[in-house]
Amino acid sequence: MPGEKVPMICGIDLGTTNSVIAYIDDHGKAQVIPNTDNERITPSVVLFDGAEAVVGKIAKNSAVTAPESVVQFIKRHMGEDGWTQTLCGKPYTPEMISALILRKLAQDAETVMGRKVGSVVITVPAYFNEIERKATQDAGIIAGLNVLSVLNEPTAAALAYGLDRLGQRKRVLVYDLGGGTLDVTVVQIEGTKIDVLATDGERRLGGIDWDDEVINTVAEKFKTEHQIDPRTDLDAYQDLRTKAEDAKIALSKLEKVRILCQCQGRTIKVELTRSEFERMTKAQLEQTETYLGVVLAKAKLTWKDIDVVLPVGGMTRMPAVREMLRRITGIEPDASVNPDECVAIGAAYYNAVLSMHQAPEATTALWLNGERTAPGALIKDIDAKARGLLQGVEVTNVNSHSLGIIGIRKSDGRMVNDILIPRNTPIPVERTKTYGTATANQVSVQIKVVEGEGEDPEDCVEIGTCVLSELPAGRDAGAKVDVTFRYDADGRLEVSARDRATGKEAKVEIQRKSGMTQAQITDAKAAIGGLDLG
Ligand SMILES: Nc1ncnc2c1ncn2[C@@H]1O[C@H](COP(=O)(O)OP(=O)(O)OP(=O)(O)O)[C@@H](O)[C@H]1O
Ligand SMILES: [Mg+2]
Repeated sequence: MPGEKVPMICGIDLGTTNSVIAYIDDHGKAQVIPNTDNERITPSVVLFDGAEAVVGKIAKNSAVTAPESVVQFIKRHMGEDGWTQTLCGKPYTPEMISALILRKLAQDAETVMGRKVGSVVITVPAYFNEIERKATQDAGIIAGLNVLSVLNEPTAAALAYGLDRLGQRKRVLVYDLGGGTLDVTVVQIEGTKIDVLATDGERRLGGIDWDDEVINTVAEKFKTEHQIDPRTDLDAYQDLRTKAEDAKIALSKLEKVRILCQCQGRTIKVELTRSEFERMTKAQLEQTETYLGVVLAKAKLTWKDIDVVLPVGGMTRMPAVREMLRRITGIEPDASVNPDECVAIGAAYYNAVLSMHQAPEATTALWLNGERTAPGALIKDIDAKARGLLQGVEVTNVNSHSLGIIGIRKSDGRMVNDILIPRNTPIPVERTKTYGTATANQVSVQIKVVEGEGEDPEDCVEIGTCVLSELPAGRDAGAKVDVTFRYDADGRLEVSARDRATGKEAKVEIQRKSGMTQAQITDAKAAIGGLDLG
């Protein structure tokens, strides 16, 4: 209803280097909301300055002068147990720092639009494990947001691309190269369904690795000329990092750039051509290239089966990336969606889809700080046509990591990870496997549930335990126990174990394991609540 200020249905791309927020407008179209500086993209950088936390461009630019009070690339630490950074004398977790970024995005969106943020869907790399997903969700909660779901970034991008093209069958290869991660995913759009067929990637490969090559080249030249390494001088290093990134971005348009490097009163000017730059970063590009083949093979497809190549992420603006995609796939990379914005756009659409499924005609619940505070975003205010379109959308997903249990292998007595649900299995899914008790007279069975690909339990992450106890005494080893994994669409895993002979059963539901308790979330909220976002 025009004029009526209903809360907004939002999607947030919380990126390693940049973040974007989008909302669904009255016509049912997702639109990016600029920040209060009128920029559509906000650097994911926080500057701590006493009682103030400044998020965005100013923080990014201040990294040079105040590196000790600036945090960047926090997404790389998401879910890392025990990681904190002390800023202005206080320790901050990745969740708290991410919460400041999310709060800034939401706060600016509310100021610019004059409407409340009703609910959000936050995107994560397909590569994130359950702990990292949960940490992202916690960050949203700490920011005071109503987080409906977390969504894989490539799925969001495919949704942004595919919403206007529902009804046709299209297989989309999403190649997302951002500031810090590479995600390659094959998504199938069929009818109203959007399915992830396969996904893989590299969690520590992105724009900064390209920047590092430029930095190292310039620094080596500087060393030869002045016998000083600018990488050992903090101010000079930060400054060079900014200039290297600027040079890389400029080289997407220009054939040649000049980089001025200054350190301790000395200066050099380095000229860098696009072809030199491409040669320097060939190994990185080739590394991304290998994932194309890997994901295609995982999806059991050939390039002939792919209809669309969708470049996502700021780095795909580089001509070399597009050329590589063209060469490998034989397909002209799509230019219809904005590589910087489509993830947030898709997340907003997904939020609309979820809101509609939850409450088709009425309001979506709005929970803030654990209390129902106001009516939620009104889906019925959206254009009837768009509503119909969104109503039909079904997004299915695959699990990004294998799920298994730790068992003793009969042949050699070694403890191994025995996988029940391999990665890339479409979810929801249910799998049962029968195991035997290890010893005679075993009256309880402890099932360690792990996430990971390797056989060695050391390489896996333990995500929960299911204990089946009070089994009858006096039995031989090998009493049969059926273990069932039920993995539902929103990432909840239910593990049950059933003793065949007695029918005795134990069940646990493994929520995304939270690194944080409710009390910790409340404390984190209080800690960042005192900070003014400027
Ligand atoms: N025109 C351009 N040419 C080359 N690189 C660019 C261009 N524009 C942005 N970049 C680079 O893209 C990267 C940022 O991309 P993006 O904003 O998609 O990352 P992100 O979403 O924050 O990261 P991630 O997806 O890894 O979490 C930076 O390394 C930036 O330098
Ligand atoms: Mg991204």
